[in-house]
Amino acid sequence: MSTVQHRIVPQHVAIIMDGNGRWANARGLPRTFGHRKGVETVRETVKAAGEAGVGFLTLFAFSSENWRRPEAEINELFGLLKAFIRRDLADLHRAGIRIRIIGDRVNLRDDIRSLLLEAEETTTNNTGMTLVIAFNYGSRDEIARAAARLAADVQAGRLDPSQIDASKLNDCLDTAGIPDPDLVIRTSGEERLSNFLLWQAAYAELMFVPDFWPDFTPALFDSVLERYAARDRRFGGLSAKAVAVGS
Ligand code: IPE
Ligand code: IPE
Ligand code: MG
Repeated sequence: MSTVQHRIVPQHVAIIMDGNGRWANARGLPRTFGHRKGVETVRETVKAAGEAGVGFLTLFAFSSENWRRPEAEINELFGLLKAFIRRDLADLHRAGIRIRIIGDRVNLRDDIRSLLLEAEETTTNNTGMTLVIAFNYGSRDEIARAAARLAADVQAGRLDPSQIDASKLNDCLDTAGIPDPDLVIRTSGEERLSNFLLWQAAYAELMFVPDFWPDFTPALFDSVLERYAARDRRFGGLSAKAVAVGS
């Protein structure tokens, strides 16, 4: 019998990358420096997730509510996404990573939209980890768009309202084909979901870490995975341990 202990690894980890601005402010730097440093953390985290055996990694990069920020900061965040895809796409492709984008694309600029499409199309046949980038993403917007798609199907006579169930709605979300997140991590000490994967995270384990995103190291990521492995997930049923002792 092997004595190697295999840790339970979440199939899908989703991260709310928060605290870039506060990281920069704490150093007397403009917020944009925090966003730039945050991109380095993205690179390290993608690598660490792949090495840990995570199948799907979703990163919240820009929310549908982040349009409320000053225009200069929005431009910086869009510029960083563009630069990241231009600089890193070839490396990610070589590493076998498949890229998926979730969020509302219709209202994005043409240059961003085509770059996102290029990232998805280039990597579509890769079989390694799937990196899901949530860009211009908000759960309520996503669910409303899914409802509109179902309504259009009903109107066109392709679907009867009695056939609509959770699985049908799920199939109309941006995340169709992606398993639900097992673990949602938020950095920076904030303990809220901020409109992120509200439907999909119904049974996710939530982990809040006090560190700002630019300080989120692979070692910290590993410690979160360790904590996840110790959690008892019941999905409304009974824990495997309770069943074993017949209680
Ligand atoms: C996360 O850091 C990045 C985005 C939301 C795009 P923030 O920019 O929210 O940083 P804080 O929360 O203001 O410190
Ligand atoms: C959530 O962080 C969005 C992203 C990480 C992209 P925010 O910083 O926008 O969330 P709030 O405003 O603190 O809830
Ligand atoms: Mg924030």
